[in-house]
Amino acid sequence: MTNVTDQDRVLIFDTTLRDGEQSPGATMTHNEKLEIAELLDEMGVDIIEAGFPIASEGDFKAVSEIAERSKNSRICGLARANFADIDRCWEAVKRANKNRIHTFIGTSPLHRAIPNLTMDEMADKIHETVSHARNLCENVQWSPMDATRTEWDYLCRVIEIAIKAGATTINIPDTVGYTAPVESADLIKRLIETVPGADEVVFATHCHNDLGMATANSLAAVAGGARQIECTINGLGERAGNTALEEVVMALRTRNDIMPWTTGIDTTKIMHISRRVATVAGFPVQFNKAIVGKNAFAHESGIHQDGMLKNRENFEIMRPEDIGLSGTSLPLGKHSGRAALRDKLETLGYEVGDNQLRDIFVRFKDLADRKKEVFDDDLIALMTLDDADDYLQLVSMKVTCGTGGQAESTVELEMDGKDIIATEHGDGPVDATFKAIRSIYPNKAHLQLYQVHAVTEGTDAQATVSVRLEEDGMIATGQSANTDTVVASAKAYIHALNRLIMRREKAGPGADAREISYKDLT
Ligand code: KIV
Ligand code: ZN
Repeated sequence: MTNVTDQDRVLIFDTTLRDGEQSPGATMTHNEKLEIAELLDEMGVDIIEAGFPIASEGDFKAVSEIAERSKNSRICGLARANFADIDRCWEAVKRANKNRIHTFIGTSPLHRAIPNLTMDEMADKIHETVSHARNLCENVQWSPMDATRTEWDYLCRVIEIAIKAGATTINIPDTVGYTAPVESADLIKRLIETVPGADEVVFATHCHNDLGMATANSLAAVAGGARQIECTINGLGERAGNTALEEVVMALRTRNDIMPWTTGIDTTKIMHISRRVATVAGFPVQFNKAIVGKNAFAHESGIHQDGMLKNRENFEIMRPEDIGLSGTSLPLGKHSGRAALRDKLETLGYEVGDNQLRDIFVRFKDLADRKKEVFDDDLIALMTLDDADDYLQLVSMKVTCGTGGQAESTVELEMDGKDIIATEHGDGPVDATFKAIRSIYPNKAHLQLYQVHAVTEGTDAQATVSVRLEEDGMIATGQSANTDTVVASAKAYIHALNRLIMRREKAGPGADAREISYKDLT
């Protein structure tokens, strides 16, 4: 077992901005990445994996700026097993108060076949690259990708090499979400017992959720001796995602009687960061998701409500306040003033400057005119609205629906300072509206996702709409909220188009969103 950290303390390594962001469609803008990194730092995340610096100029800039702005968290970048990746990674993280290079190579038979290296050649490469990283940075993490499908003897051999070459953290990835809790605990325990030098380093666990066992596998690994959990907010990540930060943290806190390990996370910040990640990544959280789902603390059945009124512990094992949900939520109305709005936004985790408050207040009044009571979730939806200086702006729209499903939509957009109107027909109002937008701004973006959620209850509820567009490998998501679902859909579509336009301009003619696709990793 490690002597590097306090035995009871589990380090939280968040990879929302790297493994989470590599999930198709979850791409975030530069400013969004900075915002999420700041929230992770404030909530007490020990290590933030901020990106993969060699992947693109954008990744490099984001990791560098996150490193420069970091306060308490250690900032880590990912690098494949070659000097160019490692040098670029060091360039990006070196200005952080605390930094880390994370280098990896796939060690299982399937992954060894990709670079076509023999076992001995790969072992040499690991020695060379980890030594190189350690010469640059005193804190180096090494991962044998697909560790859970790597032959036991070879896994022990390469971990020993990495430790001898100077790795300070050994991460054991379950890259394809294949392991199970008993095996996960046993693997870490046996590695720590077997590999020479294992007691000098921290063992980490990195699980994917393909079989729905990522949280259980991570906690089992801790029971086996791991002292770092790698995870993402909302479990964001490729395929079925990664271990969810909020789940492992709240499980350790709630069942500390049988899992006596602590984290440094301020759990009251969980809900706010969960909402921000869902919004900026364009991945809404499922309603019944553990900890952060909309229904996670809702007790609607008669028996449950009765039990809750008698004693909340009958049905609640955590308090909503523990994750930053305000217990009582008094709605605002059209007579509420700026001070009440600012106060409410602060309790929801938003610090707004005077200019932003002025802008939000106008939108709030507009909403309060249409809706009797403005709930917390309505305000959160308002905070996600579009930028005023976008290339395309919705000026007005009018939709007529027939009973047979056919609809006509007339849309007026301001584009490049000019107002342009188009009318189109379609299968329903949303289809007609999207066609009208496309006829004003012709594009070949393919609609990958269209999702509608009611924010609150009632026929005057706001709908939040998420749209994901893809064009030549470049992906952009857009969101909007409105009491009218078709207006929210139009705005979300326009929002996604604006982000696509911005990305295209930044990338320059013919450029791809990423110079190295994350697909190259596996
Ligand atoms: O899942 C995985 O194996 C990874 C590695 C790059 C650590 O994300
Ligand atoms: Zn991963």
